[in-house]
Amino acid sequence: MNRLNDYAERVNRKLAQIPAIVPENRYEIGEMPWLLSRSMRYSLEAGGKRLRPSMLLAAVEMLGGDMDAALDIACAVEMIHTYSLIHDDLPGMDDDTMRRGRPTNHVVFGVGQAILAGDGLLNAAFETMLACACAHPDRALDYLLAIREIATGAGVTGMIGGQVMDLYCEKAKLADTSALEYIQYGKTACMFIYPLRAAARLCGAGEDDLEALTAYGRAFGLLFQATDDLLDVTGTAADMGKTLGKDAESGKLTCVSAYGLEGTKQLVERLHREAVSAIAPYGEHGAFFRELVDAMVDRTK
Ligand code: IPE
Ligand code: IPE
Ligand code: MG
Ligand code: MG
Ligand code: MG
Repeated sequence: MNRLNDYAERVNRKLAQIPAIVPENRYEIGEMPWLLSRSMRYSLEAGGKRLRPSMLLAAVEMLGGDMDAALDIACAVEMIHTYSLIHDDLPGMDDDTMRRGRPTNHVVFGVGQAILAGDGLLNAAFETMLACACAHPDRALDYLLAIREIATGAGVTGMIGGQVMDLYCEKAKLADTSALEYIQYGKTACMFIYPLRAAARLCGAGEDDLEALTAYGRAFGLLFQATDDLLDVTGTAADMGKTLGKDAESGKLTCVSAYGLEGTKQLVERLHREAVSAIAPYGEHGAFFRELVDAMVDRTK
């Protein structure tokens, strides 16, 4: 999708300049060790679809806000997402050796350094967002409300909570569909819902926008994880950039394990309808979001 590429390009250009992670060749007091900057950038610059920051920028544009003023916040979302992937791949979590078409962070830098690269990205995301709020004192409250949304989405009732239950159900061999919904809502949908809500906050939008974007983000996120679960069975490692077939091998609770391939495809269709109807109030202004969810239904990567 051309528009997705445009947003992703903006994000990539800005990420290359984020002061909290610019490459350093020293380890002087007050500077980041070169090893940390190298390991953080290794995963951040490995590619990735940049969906979450692109959707944040698209929502700002749709609501008539200032995309340039939202760029640091969008980059922070990508840093948090990348940290979640580094940690997700660790031997104590999903134990994966390929990500974004490269050996995983811990394979290259070791487990300890990979944990710290994830920690570094998470912290740098908040440094970046808070610096941005401080640089716009006249709009500091909008920024703080946006930052709070992102913290909530990535936090203990969001992504981290979902990841906890994902691991718990795998180890406990729990196959309960309400646990599955909790997991997928937390680990994946929250990383779409809350960045979209942050976009609304940056635009000073009201309850109607927050509600519509929350409904879209939830349906989109659940659909995205359902297709991730499908692609773990039906996709190719070359397209996905990661080792597939891992979910069944490790006994993960996924849409495919709970509903089968056909049931999961039906779920995807239902969530697609939900996402399309959530974005309908925006009419033509919501075209990007409608096309994006259409594209996700039969994505291959
Ligand atoms: C992978 O997310 C993790 C899931 C929530 C399934 P993406 O598929 O968006 O990963 P990148 O950012 O494109 O690498
Ligand atoms: C990952 O879900 C979700 C987060 C990183 C928060 P998965 O474990 O299914 O993602 P992949 O399949 O490793 O990309
Ligand atoms: Mg996982
Ligand atoms: Mg994983
Ligand atoms: Mg997966």
